[in-house]
Amino acid sequence: MDEGLCQPVSLGLLRVDYFACDLRGTIAQVEANVIASGWSAMSQVTSDMHRYGLTVLGHLDKTDQIPANTSLEGIATGMIHAWDKYNVAGAVILFVVEDRTINICDQRFHEFQVYRQRPGIRVIRRSFAQLLSQASLGESRALIVDGHEVAVVYYRVGYSPDHYPSEREWQLRLLIERSRAIKSPSIQLHLAGTKKVQQELCRPGVLERYLRDQEVTLCRSLFVGLYSLDMDEDGDAAVEMALAAPHRYVLKPQREGGGNNIYGEEIAHTLARLRDSAERTAFILMELIEPHVQPNYLLRPGHGSPELVQAVGELGIFGYILGDGEQTYCNECCGFTLRSKPSSVQEGGIIAGFGAMDSPFLVYWDEDGSGAASSGDGDQRGNTQLS
Ligand SMILES: Nc1ncnc2c1ncn2[C@@H]1O[C@H](COP(=O)(O)OP(=O)(O)OP(=O)(O)O)[C@@H](O)[C@H]1O
Ligand SMILES: [Mg+2]
Repeated sequence: MDEGLCQPVSLGLLRVDYFACDLRGTIAQVEANVIASGWSAMSQVTSDMHRYGLTVLGHLDKTDQIPANTSLEGIATGMIHAWDKYNVAGAVILFVVEDRTINICDQRFHEFQVYRQRPGIRVIRRSFAQLLSQASLGESRALIVDGHEVAVVYYRVGYSPDHYPSEREWQLRLLIERSRAIKSPSIQLHLAGTKKVQQELCRPGVLERYLRDQEVTLCRSLFVGLYSLDMDEDGDAAVEMALAAPHRYVLKPQREGGGNNIYGEEIAHTLARLRDSAERTAFILMELIEPHVQPNYLLRPGHGSPELVQAVGELGIFGYILGDGEQTYCNECCGFTLRSKPSSVQEGGIIAGFGAMDSPFLVYWDEDGSGAASSGDGDQRGNTQLS
C-alpha cells in the first residue's frame, strides 16, 4: 500500500458451495472459495464416467439428465483472459504448487487445457521453496521467475499457515503481491474470501452496497444465519445462542482446506473456554445446514465394494471473474462439481477419504410443482421440466 498498487486487476477462479435443503430445489450457501478452488478437472471426468455407466447399462436415453460441465475449460479460459489483459508476448503463467503434490488433477489438467486453448502460452510450475531462490522483481515491478516474466500467478498453495513455515515464505508472498503480475487471488481477493467477510456480507444492508435489489433478494435467499463473534453485544448474544443449542451451529475459524470446523458439543467446550477472550473473534458462527439425504453408492478407498449409504451432496459452482476497483472485464459461471458423503460425516473430505466425486442427475417435475417425477421417460417430458 505504501509504495502504491501496480496491478489493480485480480483474477478470481471461484467455487461457491451449496447444499440442497430439500428435493424441491431450495439451496443454501456453505461458503465461497477464492483460492485453490479444487475439483474442476475431476468433475468433468466424473460426469463422463457416469454417462458411460448409464450407456453400458442400457440407459442411453437418460444420459442427457447429467448436465454438461465445462468447469475445466472455464477455469483455463479465466487464466487466459488474465494473460491477455497483462498483454506481454512471451510472458508465462506461473502455477504455485506444493513441494509434494497430493492433488495433481488440479494443476496438470489445467496446464494441458491452457495449451489446448492457447498453445502459445507457456505454463511453469514452482513451489514456494523453488521461488525463494528463483523469483525477483524486474523493471516496472515485473515478476521474474527463472528468467521468465510472469503474467499470471495461480496459487494452488498459500491458503494455510503451514504453507508459510518461516518468515521467508511470507516475504515471498509479499514480493509476488508487490509485482505487476495478475494474481489469482490477489491479497485483497484472498481476504474477501475469508469466512469473516462471508459473515459480514450477511449483515443487513451490506449486500445492498454492491448489488441491485433483485440480486440482493436472490443472494439472500441462499444465505443461512451467519454470526460475528466480535467482542461486542452482538458477539456476546451469538455466544449465548451457540451455548444454548450447540447442535444447531458450526463454529468456523478463518481457515481453508477443510477439517478445521467445530461441531456439536465441542462448540460448547470451545466457546466456554474462549467466551471472554478476544481469541473468539478468530471464529464465526454459522447455522448448521441440514441437507437433503438420499441413498447413494459410494466407491471409496479401503471400503472394498461400493457401499449403499445415506448420502448428502454438496454442489460447487465454478466461475471466473477478472476485474479491478472500476471495471469487470469478464464474469462467467463455467461449471460445477458435486461431492457426496455419508450424511453422518461432518466434513466433505474427498482427499481425507470420506467423500466421493459425484454427478447431478436432473429429474423431471410436474409443471404445477405438485409431484415428484420419474427419471424422465420421453412421454413425460411434455408437461414436465428438469430441476
Ligand atoms: N453451515 C454448515 N452446515 C452444514 N455443514 C457445513 C456447514 N459449513 C460447512 N459444512 C461442512 O464442512 C465442510 C467444510 O466447510 P467449509 O467449506 O466452510 O470449510 P473449508 O475449510 O473452507 O473447506 P474447503 O476446503 O472445502 O474450502 C463443508 O464442505 C461442509 O461439508
Ligand atoms: Mg473453503
